[in-house]
Amino acid sequence: MTENNIDGQINNLRVPDHIAIIMDGNGRWAKRSGQPRIAGHKEGMNNVKRIATTASHLGVKVLSLYAFSTENWKRPSTEVSFLMKLPVDFFGVFMPDLIKENIKVVITGFKDDLPAKTQNVVNKAMEDTKDNTGMVLNFAFNYGGRAEIINATKILAEKAVAGEIKPQDIDEKAFSDELFTSVLGKYADPDLLIRTSGEERISNFLLWQMAYTEMVFDDAYWPDFTSDNLINDIRTFNDRDRRFGTV
Ligand code: IPE
Ligand code: IPE
Ligand code: MG
Repeated sequence: MTENNIDGQINNLRVPDHIAIIMDGNGRWAKRSGQPRIAGHKEGMNNVKRIATTASHLGVKVLSLYAFSTENWKRPSTEVSFLMKLPVDFFGVFMPDLIKENIKVVITGFKDDLPAKTQNVVNKAMEDTKDNTGMVLNFAFNYGGRAEIINATKILAEKAVAGEIKPQDIDEKAFSDELFTSVLGKYADPDLLIRTSGEERISNFLLWQMAYTEMVFDDAYWPDFTSDNLINDIRTFNDRDRRFGTV
């Protein structure tokens, strides 16, 4: 199967509206072939384009990609600098493809804490694609689930102190509206989470939003994760019985 010839693979495939991916294993991918970790991040970046294209062709509504966590600042500064520069390279190279695919770029996370150059480039990517009507490509960049929840709590507390809302009016909808993912509207909660590289944990991703998300852990390192992997993981999802607390 090639990246653009998925038609034969998708018979009877029920494609989830919102797929979230924890793109993990770049460092180990590089190490395996004796390369520096950043070589893995570069190849991982190229894979974002491939998988986003496949997801778009499959009819996914929102693809959320965990690209940098609030905890990833603890990595060596050379690696952090490289990761901060990746959006510049990514949008520099792939923007024409994203436009051609009618993909709309969204960034969720603490954008104001990013280096100015990174902020400029992600803001421009959002601006350049804001009228696109196809798949939403949501990069969680400088994102952390706990920090997001605390941020929403502060906003609601400030509104209550200012008399704009009453504490008893705070419900799940009011809370969700203050999360970064509110820009995703009715697709804010992922249907399927995929984590690559064999690790089986959440690592602070979309804690609130994943209350009823189905999780699939795929052994492939992110740079090796192909359209076949994606389709297989969707098939696994299709075999699940989502009950949402009912019988
Ligand atoms: C995921 O790959 C990318 C980011 C977290 C930015 P890693 O860099 O975590 O790769 P491993 O887990 O060390 O192999
Ligand atoms: C999660 O991966 C963050 C991203 C993929 C951006 P990590 O590699 O940072 O997670 P841990 O440290 O193994 O939990
Ligand atoms: Mg990792």
